[in-house]
Amino acid sequence: MISTFVKDIGANVGQEIELKGWAYNFRSSGKIFFLQFRDGTGVTQIVYSKAALTEEQWNALQSLRIESSVIVTGKAKPDRAGTGFELDGTGVTIVSLAAEDYPIGKKEHGPDFLHDMRHLWLRSPTQWAIQRVRDTVIHATYDYFREKGFTKIDSPILTPNACEGTTELFEMDYFDMGKAYLSQSGQLYLEAAVMSFGNVFDFGPVFRAEKSKTRRHLTEFWMMDAEMAFCDHEGNLKVQEELICRIVADVLKHNRSDLAILERDVTKLEKIQAPFVRMTHAEAVAKLKELGSDIGPMDDLGADDETKLTELYERPIFVEKYPTVVKAFYMKRDPNDPTHVMNADMLAPEGYGEIIGGSQREDDYETLLQRIKEHNLPVEQFNWYLDLRKYGSVPHSGFGYGLERIVRWMCGIHHIRETIPFPRLINRLTP
Ligand code: 4AD
Ligand code: MG
Repeated sequence: MISTFVKDIGANVGQEIELKGWAYNFRSSGKIFFLQFRDGTGVTQIVYSKAALTEEQWNALQSLRIESSVIVTGKAKPDRAGTGFELDGTGVTIVSLAAEDYPIGKKEHGPDFLHDMRHLWLRSPTQWAIQRVRDTVIHATYDYFREKGFTKIDSPILTPNACEGTTELFEMDYFDMGKAYLSQSGQLYLEAAVMSFGNVFDFGPVFRAEKSKTRRHLTEFWMMDAEMAFCDHEGNLKVQEELICRIVADVLKHNRSDLAILERDVTKLEKIQAPFVRMTHAEAVAKLKELGSDIGPMDDLGADDETKLTELYERPIFVEKYPTVVKAFYMKRDPNDPTHVMNADMLAPEGYGEIIGGSQREDDYETLLQRIKEHNLPVEQFNWYLDLRKYGSVPHSGFGYGLERIVRWMCGIHHIRETIPFPRLINRLTP
């Protein structure tokens, strides 16, 4: 007998096969037992008739409970709807009978309850679909960078200094060496690596002690940082645009059925193509004022501003050249206007807002030193970073994406907490 997976039933039509998984649901009508079965690769139905089973097997089915683990056998055939496949059941073994009171039922549960039950909720179809989309986004990213000749570099998580401002740092005592901080972004380390490898990226968990409860902030999330030597602001945007187009294309290629479970309007994703919309921060402010925002010329865009702006276009928007005062110390200032920096945030359409932050980096030693001082950062902790401007400095640029922000957009879901297997928020650390 062939031991296989739900996703491969179609290749085994006419054969008796074995599947290992869980009893997702079932119903019985006297002499027929319908088992909804899932194995991680998909869901299928196994139709058992009493006449085809031993008494022992039929009794086992009668004792079955939702979410029990089971090994089933049956003959594969097209289902009645003609859209999928099902099994004519020939056997069943209960591996572990689930307790009677599986907490997640058919009725509506509130989000707090579901997140308390996250360890079980992950089995639900929507949560399963979201994580499968996440998997595609991750693989598309690795594939894109590998094809473009980037080297994957792992940046550290325990760091002696801040990357993105000191207000959102998780700190801890580090033996007798003072404080250590959880990384907010691997960027500064990638800037060291580009001087050895040319083009690099990292991918890992980063941490922000975000005090706000929003639909787009986690305290632990996964960031991909990319960094390119001999690359200016224009070159930076080109890589970002290509990467996002690649991710969308791969999700559309591999996750149609998952997007269907999520009731995602895929026509919105099908419209994501280069070139993306581009506007300066000043142009964005002017547009937002027309839309009734009270944003000032030197203000950062608020979440509401990003929502308003991105509802105007069907493609992502690069908002470029933010005021220097609202952005990080390492961004290179516009040579024509030092009150603004050579950066861009990429905002996803349909109100999703910022998914990427990036910039050309300050590559001049004296200017960078001065910027570190202006930001009241401890110069001694940045000496290694300053060294990069002393020994063979080059124009270089890079960006970082928030994986969960992209998954949220791809899946079309409201709250970022469903995009990561075990979310960490200001008010949630378990399970
Ligand atoms: O814009 P950010 O803060 O940029 C950086 O950290 C740069 N050092 C990246 C770089 O140039 N290499 O963060 C990058 C992205 C944001 O655009 C957003 O998508 C995501 O990380 N992000 C968050 N995602 C979830 N929860 C949070 N609290 C996030 N903060 C940022
Ligand atoms: Mg940002």
